[in-house]
Amino acid sequence: MSLSVVILAAGKGTRMKSHLPKVLHPIANKPMVQHIIDTVTSLGAENIHLIYGHGGDQLKDTLSHNNLSWCLQAEQLGTGHAVQQAAPHIKDDEDVLILVGDAPLIKPSTLKQLVEVKQTADLALLTVNLDDPTGMGRIIRDGDQVKAIVEHKDATDEQRQISEINTGMMIMGGADLKRWLSALKSDNAQGEFYLTDVIEMASNEGRVIKASQPDSAIEVEGINNRKQLAMIERAYQVNKANELLLEGLYILDPNRFDLRGSIEFGQDCVIDVNAIVQGAVKLGNGVKIGPNCQLIDCEIGDDTVVEANSVIEQAQVEKNCTIGPFGRLRPGAVMKDGAKVGNFVEMKKSTLGKGSKANHLSYLGDTQVGEGANIGAGTITCNYDGVNKFKTVIGDGAFIGSNSSLVAPAHIGINATVGAGSTITKEVEDDQLAIARGKQKNISGWQRPQKNK
Ligand code: UD1
Ligand code: CA
Repeated sequence: MSLSVVILAAGKGTRMKSHLPKVLHPIANKPMVQHIIDTVTSLGAENIHLIYGHGGDQLKDTLSHNNLSWCLQAEQLGTGHAVQQAAPHIKDDEDVLILVGDAPLIKPSTLKQLVEVKQTADLALLTVNLDDPTGMGRIIRDGDQVKAIVEHKDATDEQRQISEINTGMMIMGGADLKRWLSALKSDNAQGEFYLTDVIEMASNEGRVIKASQPDSAIEVEGINNRKQLAMIERAYQVNKANELLLEGLYILDPNRFDLRGSIEFGQDCVIDVNAIVQGAVKLGNGVKIGPNCQLIDCEIGDDTVVEANSVIEQAQVEKNCTIGPFGRLRPGAVMKDGAKVGNFVEMKKSTLGKGSKANHLSYLGDTQVGEGANIGAGTITCNYDGVNKFKTVIGDGAFIGSNSSLVAPAHIGINATVGAGSTITKEVEDDQLAIARGKQKNISGWQRPQKNK
């Protein structure tokens, strides 16, 4: 049977104390509702109806790349009323999976199981047992058979002792759902149209209702405030780190690792503490990442070592390179085999050729460095005149003395040498030495000015 999904996301999320609609708050740098959309997309859902209320423009901007059916719930009159907004789009002969937009850790396998349980029932719901079920809808059973859900505010003291709760996630046939929705009443403690009332309706019709459970309660944990947001973020990250460890990536401390995208890796890669991996990152074999590094959309080749506190963004690093500590590769940086970038060296739109080194305190912008060149400490390529950017070319085997400024457009030939402290404004040809600095003058017996007593 085909599957449609309804995601409830009309709540305001007041407790987030934010201008951003609650379901757009990120987990792992991705809106929490996008996690859910991705999960149900992987299940092959035909239509995804998103029930929204607040922040419609922001939601539509952020989620526009998804193929969603947008259903406005202008007034939040309860979860049943929310699902009613999708009713006109629901087909009789499809299964409808109802989810909440603020529980992003729900696993595809858990939902798949719920969908499978529905194949042997008229209605299947996801429940979980909580040590503290306060505030939640309680599952009323008669033996194996689920009879009803009673909301906390409507429950008797005895019912409040029940620890099995409604997660808000359930599935049933489209025709049943629409019929039950149209019969909902709001004569309850909150004056709302409760989706949960459909359970009792189904039970009264003698229908088969089954419950299934997730592997872990964290999967169905909703986010209402930033404390819960941070808790879910950490749970997501520890879980990811543990998955990666089992796939063979050695993360020294899974509690201090953040994946905000995807990572591919070869054998024997090691990531020290406090790494942030963002976008699409690819590591070869034997790559070592030191503590406190940020890797964003980059590729790092075999046996390269990234030392502590380095930031690599949209850069390509080949094999056997070393970077940092405190190295910074900005977009368009390329390091060829065996190249070295040391502390406080910044590269942008620049290539450092095979075995070339820039070991200390340098800026290379719009620069092509050949093979086996040495860029001395404090070398700066002056690539920007305030309006335009210019290129610098440094040939194979060139040696740039410390504290040199290369004013672009600049060309330093093969095996050329630049004397320390030079400001280079003219072409240096192959094998030439260029020195462009004030000549040293020594004055003997120099008397320094004295302070008056
Ligand atoms: C609901 C369930 C409760 C369950 C709990 C799990 C009902 C009546 N109660 O409780 O049994 O234990 O979830 O968290 O269904 N929403 C709308 N429109 C509305 C109201 C809610 O879109 O008019 C959305 C919210 O944005 C949220 C979800 O529905 O994503 C659940 O609403 P919330 O108010 O958090 O749940 P409760 O009513 O407290
Ligand atoms: Ca409510």
